[in-house]
Amino acid sequence: MSFTLHQLDVFAEVAKQKSMTRAAEKLFMSQPAVSIQVKKLQDHFGVDLFEVIGKELFLTQAGKELYEAQKNIRKELNSLEMSLSEIKGMLKGKLNLAVVSTAKYFMPYILGAYRSKFENIKISLKVTNRNEVKDLLRRNMCDLAVFSELPDDMDLEWVEFLDNPLLMASAPDHPLANKKKLKFIDLEGYPFLFREPGSGTRLVMQRLIDKHKIQPDVIMELGTNEAVKQAIMAGIGISLISKYSMTLEASIGKISVLDVNGLPHINRWKMVYPKGKRLSPAAQNFVDFTINADMQEILS
Ligand code: PGA
Repeated sequence: MSFTLHQLDVFAEVAKQKSMTRAAEKLFMSQPAVSIQVKKLQDHFGVDLFEVIGKELFLTQAGKELYEAQKNIRKELNSLEMSLSEIKGMLKGKLNLAVVSTAKYFMPYILGAYRSKFENIKISLKVTNRNEVKDLLRRNMCDLAVFSELPDDMDLEWVEFLDNPLLMASAPDHPLANKKKLKFIDLEGYPFLFREPGSGTRLVMQRLIDKHKIQPDVIMELGTNEAVKQAIMAGIGISLISKYSMTLEASIGKISVLDVNGLPHINRWKMVYPKGKRLSPAAQNFVDFTINADMQEILS
């Protein structure tokens, strides 16, 4: 008797969850049905795949090797599926993206370029704050997420695809607006605007403030990059802000980039997914697209 792909997938879910019960829940199967599939696989190979120590389920050496093989087989099948669909010009499916608010300034352009090549992919783009993006990733409610500052409390895989230059900006009539070669200490004493706690931009700003040992006069906290930009233009204060979010306003003189030594601070935008997640063909295809696309051309 030979084994099936389904049995391998059920086995892999048990290995991932370290529990028959949790795997059964994830797979919407009954617990006995899960253990029957695992048993059939064990019978086929004639080795134990799991061992129970205490109350915990562990992979045996044979189990570990089979788990690795299953991941490779799935990867191969995904890329096979993708290239076959591409050959037929009909890669289909749905792509669920969750991105931090600052990514809204470039993601639509990347998605536009992507859709012009793969028109059968339906896309959902959720733009929200960092904590919610993390939550969506944790609950497996999106295929891919975009951050530039990676969360340090999650086990993630990622690919970098674009620079995120961060600049200090002010209103055009700000006293520092036309000064050259400012040092961080020169910013002290002027009103600062901060992003909300948890924002990636705020984390970088705080690090720069700590590094240069300045004590900013933070007069306002705002929940999105857009709100910070509007407050800068309204003359309320200065702030670190992503270059791509203010290209238009800078080009028509509504906002000024301060000439501060050490800036721009260059972060990289990253396409992120939970470690070990099996990407759908559409998600894998989009990751490949973002790595290989000419971002300069897309965003020019
Ligand atoms: P933010 O995102 O909108 O949370 O500041 C930027 C980032 O992830 O670095």
